[in-house]
Amino acid sequence: MMEKRIKKIGVITSGGDCSGMNAALRSVVRCAIYNGIEVVGFYNAYAGLVRNECIKMTRRSVSNIIGHGGTILKTERFDKFKEKKWQKKAVDVLKKNKVDALVVIGGNGSFAAAHILSKNWGITTIGIPATIDNDINGSDYAVGTFTAVNVALEAIDKIRDTATSMERIFVVEVMGRKEGYIASLVGLAGGVEDILLPEKPIHLEEMCRDIINGRKRGKKSWIIVVAEGAGRALDVADAITLKTGFETRVVVLGHVQRGGVPSAFDRSLASRFGAKAIELLLEGKTDKTTAIQANEITSIALATAIKPIKKSNSEIYKLTRILAS
Ligand code: F6P
Repeated sequence: MMEKRIKKIGVITSGGDCSGMNAALRSVVRCAIYNGIEVVGFYNAYAGLVRNECIKMTRRSVSNIIGHGGTILKTERFDKFKEKKWQKKAVDVLKKNKVDALVVIGGNGSFAAAHILSKNWGITTIGIPATIDNDINGSDYAVGTFTAVNVALEAIDKIRDTATSMERIFVVEVMGRKEGYIASLVGLAGGVEDILLPEKPIHLEEMCRDIINGRKRGKKSWIIVVAEGAGRALDVADAITLKTGFETRVVVLGHVQRGGVPSAFDRSLASRFGAKAIELLLEGKTDKTTAIQANEITSIALATAIKPIKKSNSEIYKLTRILAS
């Protein structure tokens, strides 16, 4: 059977925003138009889709956004999309707008919804990994992760200045949902003393022993990074003070990691992913996401992409500990 040619696509930016989403959107819009495909954008992710918050996208709609963080299409959390009623509403809105396929720029949760739209409702969907969490199984990187790591790194460098000057222990909490990718990378790059990762058993006793022994050897300051999926920085700091008797300070970096000027890597990855998404649609593919593996742009099934990730970050963790000792 001949594949139906795609004439018009919809695009959303979804889940937690990240730097580089705009660059991905620009690439999707311009590559689609280059290939004679019309584009409509839906504001506010799946929530805006069911409310039909739709705008025609032209090459000019995405002018001068490549270097801006956030997303001009906005995004919103919409847990209700798990209910069939809202999925049907989205399908009706797509049909009403004569949209042949939906491109979803987002992370794990957004891809789960795209997979349902494809599998249960027959909608052609293609994902573009864009999330600070780097939680897309089968893609080495997602758009936005490295910018977030750089933002967190800048903060750690600043904290180091005061930690050294005042000879203090700092516990710094970074985002990443269930993943420890940001924590491990920023830990290594920031030269921190220890990291608590979701994928590793919490080793508070050992950490406190190291601190006490370190102080005996004359070591004065520590930075300990905690991935939000491993626990709360406040609890870790309290436990350190209780076990060692040393004063601690806490910094929760939070949403600051979601903003900032997208790095060159994130802008180029976003641009390459956008082009690949359109290529996949022209080939008649659905229920897939773009991915990067060993610097090759490729594609994987959404069903695979949303599975729990197998990155252990243990090599990075071990190296951080060796270099800090
Ligand atoms: O998924 C991106 C992310 O920033 C996570 O790292 C974090 O746990 C979550 O979103 C925060 O969500 P919200 O912006 O809804 O508070």
